[in-house]
Amino acid sequence: MRKKLTRLDLQKMKDSGQTAVWVTSYDYWTAQFAEQAGMDMILVGDSLGMCIYGYEGTLPVTMDQCIWHSEAVRRGAPNTFIIGDMPFLSYQVNCDEAVRNAGRFFKEARVDAIKLEGGRRVCPQIKSIAEGGMLVMGHIGLTPQSSGQLGGFKAQGRTAETALELIEDAKAIQSAGAYSLLVEAVPPEVCKIIRDELTIPVYSIGAGIDADGQLMIVSDILGIFQAFTPKFVKKYASLGEETLRALSAYANDVRTRRFPETQHTYNMVDGELPKLKEALKKFGR
Ligand code: KIV
Repeated sequence: MRKKLTRLDLQKMKDSGQTAVWVTSYDYWTAQFAEQAGMDMILVGDSLGMCIYGYEGTLPVTMDQCIWHSEAVRRGAPNTFIIGDMPFLSYQVNCDEAVRNAGRFFKEARVDAIKLEGGRRVCPQIKSIAEGGMLVMGHIGLTPQSSGQLGGFKAQGRTAETALELIEDAKAIQSAGAYSLLVEAVPPEVCKIIRDELTIPVYSIGAGIDADGQLMIVSDILGIFQAFTPKFVKKYASLGEETLRALSAYANDVRTRRFPETQHTYNMVDGELPKLKEALKKFGR
């Protein structure tokens, strides 16, 4: 069994040029497979709103939902570094709420770190949570919780001006005390600049190869999520199609009385059926 990585291990991986690999997970069974596959980290993303609950975006996701799913993931992956994702309005209001809600992830779901979205405007919250002794990961670029302001789920930092804003955000997040940063849907050149500029690990989802590690959404990798597929996704399986095939075959077998077969049923104990029939006769059956 592999030993759970620590923040220092993850920093050493960056410093020695070793790429970290991580994936989202929202439940016990994918967490088990993620750990067995040797993931360095797991994110219990608020993308669970779309992938598990069928919401159009992440805004309706609550703290309680994130805690329940983080607990299930912790049970499935006891030896993996787990990051809990702070949902919309769990940290934006003020630093006190941010610290209290971050603390719930550690106390109730035994995560190793939390992640929150935003640049300079959430640095006071990052600082407060870090001063509370908790590991905080920043998240810039396409930040789904502010997709309304961004005009949709769109790539960010594609002009010199917006790229410079992202680089300033990244530096401020590091100075505020974040132990790592996630960059989403940003051109690879911009992510590389941020990675080279910062001493903390800088991870990519849709931001190219020049990062200290790569994150993907588990439902995308497995080919389960049907609503849309971002450009940066590579599907490694078609579990959606396989699930449909299996459920349709099951429905057909039941309707045509080909399931269950004898091998799917339990036998009565030898000699008990005649006794049962005899007993039933007494009741006139
Ligand atoms: O919620 C999530 O899974 C995320 C990723 C999209 C980065 O934050």
